[in-house]
Amino acid sequence: MTDAAPIVKSLLEDHARIDALLSRLANEAQGEVRPKIETTWDALERALLRHLDEEEVYLFPELAKERPEDAARLASDHARFRHALGEIGIALELHAVRSEVIDALARDLRAHAAQEDVALYRWAAASEAPGPRAFVSRMQRRLAA
Ligand SMILES: [Fe+2]
Ligand SMILES: [Fe+2]
Repeated sequence: MTDAAPIVKSLLEDHARIDALLSRLANEAQGEVRPKIETTWDALERALLRHLDEEEVYLFPELAKERPEDAARLASDHARFRHALGEIGIALELHAVRSEVIDALARDLRAHAAQEDVALYRWAAASEAPGPRAFVSRMQRRLAA
């Protein structure tokens, strides 16, 4: 078993970073602060999609074998987040984004993050399966960089 603490901490920091970007985006959306809003949106979209992709590629397949209900719930959350990102992206292009929609995504993501802390990250850090182990190595390299 790998030392879980730094990896779990790094993933939780990733959640916090995404949450901060969502708060900033909601504020900028209220005042239609452009071009700042586009910069924040680009950073948020990139950070969130990378986070979702990595969990889906490295962690969900093995979690689905061991804990199918947890995996199905987390995967359906991810599908909802991708959909919300698409809707917000379109609304931004049309200058019609509402901060309430961004706040709703932030709340949804926070609830998901709380589930992952319990159902995913601690499990992944302790797992001997190839996907989670590769993910842990990847996170350790990122932490060392
Ligand atoms: Fe997730
Ligand atoms: Fe996550």
